[in-house]
Amino acid sequence: FPVAVVLPAAGSGERTGLSTPKQFCKILGRPLISYTIHAFERVFWIDSIVVVVAKESHDLMTDIIQKYNHTKVKIVEGGSTRHRSIFNGLLAFSEQGFGPKLQKPKVVIIHDAVRPFLEEDFLLKITLAANKQGASGAVRPLVSTVVAATTGGYLDHSLERARYRASEMPQGFIYDIIYQAYQHCSEAEFKFGTECLELALQHCGTSAVLIEGPSSLWKVTHKQDLASAEAVIKESLS
Ligand code: C5P
Repeated sequence: FPVAVVLPAAGSGERTGLSTPKQFCKILGRPLISYTIHAFERVFWIDSIVVVVAKESHDLMTDIIQKYNHTKVKIVEGGSTRHRSIFNGLLAFSEQGFGPKLQKPKVVIIHDAVRPFLEEDFLLKITLAANKQGASGAVRPLVSTVVAATTGGYLDHSLERARYRASEMPQGFIYDIIYQAYQHCSEAEFKFGTECLELALQHCGTSAVLIEGPSSLWKVTHKQDLASAEAVIKESLS
């Protein structure tokens, strides 16, 4: 069955404290996003990759696609929030999107441009589970206990660590389910970082299976993470 990827990359990456958004930062001379794209492109059963970038990054992204010979990629313009960007990406497979419509996939994988270390076997698990259950997502056990804080900065309550998971990426969805979920999404949901999985659950009543992923799914978030990512890439090349 056809499988496509939506890769939101329209964020400004403020937490790195760098002027370049982290997805475009270079690691061993190559932009981070190019490694992530490559991780999907080398998987033969993935048909297309929609990369969602901010308007001002469009030319840069076009150059990257040419330079690194990414052949499965289409660029789409991002939105004001991560969810808006993802929805714009999903629209590329529908009549409502801009430009030529891509073939609608059965399953769509949503991933972050800033998580470059992906293995095919895990992608397959996510894809098959999504096809069967409607939605699937990578999770990791919690390293720290999560506490809820009051607005004044005091402890409200803590969560039982064993019951909770950190939600990571990738996530997989039956395309029609996640598309419909976004169509019913409220402004508040678009604005806040509500889980994509939860949107599918709430708006479409699908079940969402959580799959424990490898620690390599970590997200490049802070400046020092770029050095860690470089070390991992060097190691894989040696
Ligand atoms: O900010 P955060 O690290 O959660 O962003 C996760 C992903 O969402 C990044 O790849 C970022 O580029 C993307 N994003 C987006 N559009 C936005 C905000 C974030 O595509 N408006």
